[in-house]
Parts: sequence; structure tokens; C-alpha cells
Amino acid sequence: MERANLDFPNLPFAYQETDYNIRYYFKDGKWSAGELTAEKTINIHMAAVCLHYGQEVFEGLKAYERPDGQVQLFRVEENAKRLQRSAKKLLMEPVPVEIFREAAHRVVAANRRFVPPFDSGATLYLRPFLIGTSAEVGVKPSADYLFMIFVTPVGPYYKAGLTPVKLRVEEEIHRAAPGGVGDIKCGGNYAAGMRATIGAKKDGYSEVLYLDAKENRYIDESGSSNFFAIRGNTLVTPASESILPSITRLSVVQIARDMGMTVEERPLALDELPSFEEAGCLGTAAVITPVELITWRGKDIVYVRDGKPGKKVLELYNRLTAIQKGEAADPYGWTEIVK
Ligand code: PLP
Ligand code: COI
Repeated sequence: MERANLDFPNLPFAYQETDYNIRYYFKDGKWSAGELTAEKTINIHMAAVCLHYGQEVFEGLKAYERPDGQVQLFRVEENAKRLQRSAKKLLMEPVPVEIFREAAHRVVAANRRFVPPFDSGATLYLRPFLIGTSAEVGVKPSADYLFMIFVTPVGPYYKAGLTPVKLRVEEEIHRAAPGGVGDIKCGGNYAAGMRATIGAKKDGYSEVLYLDAKENRYIDESGSSNFFAIRGNTLVTPASESILPSITRLSVVQIARDMGMTVEERPLALDELPSFEEAGCLGTAAVITPVELITWRGKDIVYVRDGKPGKKVLELYNRLTAIQKGEAADPYGWTEIVK
């Protein structure tokens, strides 16, 4: 195999063109066979429901090159199931898990030369998405849908690898509210959060921490990842109906329990933050990113003083990423080899 001519160890988290994407159309009550194409644009009606009334849901997962040169996907079934939950909540046609899985395998295999080398610090990011394509002007669910996956090789989302990041508590802007759609992965949630995140980035923060919209007292998550904090042998991660159920978090909770840690998934009040020793962000793009400090009402709650991640965060990171990249055995059945 001839690799794509890219500087893999220095890739940013940004769109990078690859060879193929894959598309499936839902029309007259059935899904088409998948089509691999080199075409980068999509041709949709100007009145498509996705453009006006936001019937758009998506996913994010990664493919990794293993030490033996094979490529593996991480928890593809969980992403497929979450896309179904997202679709159902917006009254969209859910994509069958088997179509999702087939699409992921085919599109990665077709773009093999873009899968970053083992342990290069980069990975192949898959972006599956589903849009309502029927022409409508009344607010109602689309009859027709397009499901696609494109792939792009990426580096770390925040900063290089395990570099600790700064977060700022956001008290004015909310990305989601109880009864809303904060628990699904729809484009509107990200549009809603841009003004908060972009503002925080201008001030030197990597992300904001959103609070619960009802009491402004409990941590929800950041705009692109879930949050966790560690005190002694206990890992606490917020329970909230307005956050995306992170698949990275699901995995880290399991790993932490198997390390003998106590895991608490419960509301996490802001005023508890100073009592923790370590904190981090969890997500496909973010992986496990250590938190250096959190600014709340002008004061800094500091977790990292020497630029290095704390011991527990580092151990969780090492265990998770060893499974993801095929360096350690996968006792959980989370990975599958791309054929
Ligand atoms: N929360 C939000 C808002 C996200 O965009 C993501 C990224 O997918 C996550 C959490 C983490 O979820 P996962 O670990 O499944 O990628
Ligand atoms: C992911 O981690 O897969 C996401 O979708 C987050 C996004 C902001 C890049």
C-alpha cells in the first residue's frame, strides 16, 4: 500500500480531502445499496427539510492502524445505535445498524491510504450523517433521507496529545435544556454553542463548560466532550438529560471500574470542583484531555501545575488508547477489524 503524502504526526483536527465517501438513499420506504463515490458535493433540493428545519443528525468515530498493519474501528455499533436514537428523536428515518456498519467498513477500506500510521498521534475520523432531503415548506418530517459517511485523517482536537487545556464555566449561554435535544447529536446543538465556544477560544480557553439550564448550578458538558473529575479513587461524571451520552465516557467508566475505581454518574455541582484533584474531557475527538484549570467567576480552579496530566487521568488515557489502537488486548469486544 502506498500511503497518502501527508505529514501524519502534525495533522490538525481539520477537514482533509480523501478518495471516497459512501452514500445510501432512503426513498419509497427503503434504503438503497451503498454507493462509493469520489464526488465531494451533494445535490439536494433548495427546499430540503434539513436546510430549513434542521433534520440533520451525525456521528463521529475513528479508525486506527494496529501494530500488525490491520485497521480497526472502535465501538462502531454504539455509534450506529446513537445515530438511531438521534434520528428517532427528530422523527427521521433511523439507519439500520447493519447499513451503518457496512458503510463504515467500506469507506475505511476504500480510503486505506489515508489511515494514519500506528501510533503517529493521528487517526482516521469518520463522519457519518443523515439528512432529510424531501422538499417541504411546512414544518414536518422529511419522507426521503440521505445517509453518508466521509472520512478525514485528523490530529488531536484540542492540543497536542495529552497537553492539559483550560476551560471556562459558561453561565449565560446554554447549549441545551431539559426536554430539549441536548442528548442527541444534531447539528443545531453545535450552532447553538458556537457563540460561547468561539468567545472562550478568543480568551485562550479550549472550550466552555455548560451548566444545567434550570438551576445554573450543575455541570453539563463542554461543547464537544463530556466532563469528569477525580478525587482519590473516585471518578465523578455528570448525569444530566441534556448531555450527549459519550461513547468514550462509557468506555472510560468501564475501564475505571476495572482499575478498581469507584465511579459516580450523578449531578456534579460547580461548588464541588475545588475538591477534585484531577479533571478531564472525554470524547472521540477529545479522547481524554486533561484539564489544567477551570475559570469560574474570574477565579481559577487549578488541577495541573507542571503541564503534565495527573496520574489517574494518564492511566485511563494509556489503557483506553492502547485498546483503541490495537496495542493491548480488547477484553470488551469494542474493536472490529476492517475487512
Ligand atoms: N458531548 C458532545 C457535545 C460531543 O460533541 C461529543 C463528541 O462526540 C461528546 C460529548 C463525546 O461523545 P463520544 O465520546 O461518543 O465521541
Ligand atoms: C466527536 O468527538 O466525534 C465530535 O463530534 C465532536 C466534534 C465537535 C468534533
